[in-house]
Amino acid sequence: MRLMPVLGAAAALVVAAPAMAEAKGTATATSPGGVVSVEVSTDGDGRALYAVSRNGKPVIAPSRLGFLFTDVAKIDRRLEITGTETRDFDDTWTQPWGEWTSIRNHYRELKVHLRETTALARVFSVTFRIYDDGVGFRYEFPQQPNMAKTNIAEELTEFAFAQDGTAWWKPAFLWNREEYLYNKTPLSAVSNADTPITIKLADGTHVALHEAALVDFSGMAVSRTEGTTLRAALHPGAGRPKVEKTGAWNTPWRTLIIADNAPGVYQSHLMLNLNEPNKLGDVSWFKPGKFAGVWWNMIKGEWTWARGPKHGATNENVKRYIDFAAANGIPQVLVEGWNVGWDGDWFGNGNDMDFAQPTEDFDAKMLAAYARKKGVRLIGHHETGGAASHYEQQFDKAFKFAADHGYMVVKTGYVTDAGQIERVDPDGTKYREWHQGQWMSNHFIRVAEAAAKYKIAFDSHEPIKGTGLQRTYPNWVAREGMRGMEYNAWPGKNPPEHEANLVFTRMLEGPMDFTPGVLSLKGSDDSNILSTIAKQLALYVVIYSPVQMVADTPENYAKYPGPMKFIRDVPTDWSETRVLNGEIGDYATIARKQRGGEDWYLGAVGDEEARSVSFKLDFLSPGAKYVAEIYRDGDDADYRTDKRHSIVIEQRRVSSADEMSLRLAPGGGAAVRFRRIK
Ligand code: NOJ
Ligand code: CA
Repeated sequence: MRLMPVLGAAAALVVAAPAMAEAKGTATATSPGGVVSVEVSTDGDGRALYAVSRNGKPVIAPSRLGFLFTDVAKIDRRLEITGTETRDFDDTWTQPWGEWTSIRNHYRELKVHLRETTALARVFSVTFRIYDDGVGFRYEFPQQPNMAKTNIAEELTEFAFAQDGTAWWKPAFLWNREEYLYNKTPLSAVSNADTPITIKLADGTHVALHEAALVDFSGMAVSRTEGTTLRAALHPGAGRPKVEKTGAWNTPWRTLIIADNAPGVYQSHLMLNLNEPNKLGDVSWFKPGKFAGVWWNMIKGEWTWARGPKHGATNENVKRYIDFAAANGIPQVLVEGWNVGWDGDWFGNGNDMDFAQPTEDFDAKMLAAYARKKGVRLIGHHETGGAASHYEQQFDKAFKFAADHGYMVVKTGYVTDAGQIERVDPDGTKYREWHQGQWMSNHFIRVAEAAAKYKIAFDSHEPIKGTGLQRTYPNWVAREGMRGMEYNAWPGKNPPEHEANLVFTRMLEGPMDFTPGVLSLKGSDDSNILSTIAKQLALYVVIYSPVQMVADTPENYAKYPGPMKFIRDVPTDWSETRVLNGEIGDYATIARKQRGGEDWYLGAVGDEEARSVSFKLDFLSPGAKYVAEIYRDGDDADYRTDKRHSIVIEQRRVSSADEMSLRLAPGGGAAVRFRRIK
């Protein structure tokens, strides 16, 4: 009962003939370089199982596939494999902006067709795209008589890890959405986790479990069922099935990046490759760059979003921030609390928000002209307060207002507890949706499409998680979706290991609007941020975003002209990225080459312990000469003492043949610009 061999040909995009065979076969395929293999089989009960191995060693033991529905019998037993197809694919595509200019998409595809042996005789396929650095797979259900409408209660996909290990994960389904610190536990102690979840298996292999192309589906969290087995746990629907479909449907890609070490996980392009190509056409109107903002004083509680004596978004303040941006070559200024609707509590008044009506002390026309004269553009803020339908009703006027005033980017926000997004259907029916639910997955696509019509890019806070959709909708340039800098303004600050966690977990989702650069190292009530000043600079390289905030106030930046030079210099768009070293939650060093330039920039972040990081400079062009402009922790720097501002700024001539060693203080970091001189 063997299936036809499923080896594809070596050339790009060769489709092999479908191989039809009887039930109970086993289908296997291996990645182009022979590293990762997938095997699909059925057991004695007709359960469909998939397994993944790397270099012959099991990573995912045979794991179940299937679905529970709210209205009809589940699909998971009495299945037979009716055929397989394979093809090879090899293509290189270009990112309009990003961490790499060109991305190679090289995989072998295995499509396994399954059919129920019951009277319902439902059919579906599971398509695996097998890369040398991991695998993505999705279910595909064709239109069929016994599935005209599909109401999913739960996805039964399992991830039965073949070994225990250490897992870095954040809890799912809690009130504060994605904004929790990472837990570090044995894999066998995970409960409910949002993805990405990154695991260092006992033998050292690193695996990141996540998903790609989350469109018209509910976001996938995972719950541990027993031992080292995780199972899909979809985010809830609003009193309805978790996912509703009509006709043919498929899931997003369930993804496993598999690498020898933490840097290898970061370097994977698997998630981007599993997304559809750009649907927006030419987006060269979007120029990556930094932004200042009328913001940190609000987050610290000194100014307000609401109108009144402490209102932040006044003509006078905004002009001052525009002047600061212009003087420092910062192309944009974010303004929050500029529109009518903020009065009162910003948690609860989403339905009052009007994104085309400025407050009386914010003269939008005058400020647009003032900004234009100074070569700066404003970034409008749209805080929906979770009133997502109310926002959709305003799309046209909101994005038109932004475009008419010369904005290129808007920042959006969905501040409300999990499960509290307000959806109102055209017939007036109201629902409370989840930020990661099916309806919100579609809402964000609607934002992307509506904004693109006006050549507006957006940066979403309290968003749905990132799954690589910036490839398809390259105006979705950044998002929050984790604890960013704002938590350092408040009690319960981010610990020093936070960013070394983020690099190998949250950052696998794509760009994060972390808002780095608080050089004062001060939050509300003069509280200390748990960082050195050099680490604030490192974040510009380590935590990627094409729109990177210069988050502190102009008055504070004026106190630190030396470090400020790095913030002025560092770009936000890269042609190449190399993770030089790193261990999850301990440290990470990343080097990136400026897009359209010859300079490289490097950032290193550590945790609460002092350590040295050493690396070769072999990423520099051979034979070329560079001046390394180094911003490192002073010898006495320490995030726990009044020496957190201790920094050494020095220069050294280097070439690709050199090595460099940087000492990171407790809570510290380092930043380097490699300026090419010859
Ligand atoms: C939370 C966001 O993360 C922050 O950036 C924003 O300023 C506030 N919400 C208000 O919208
Ligand atoms: Ca937030």
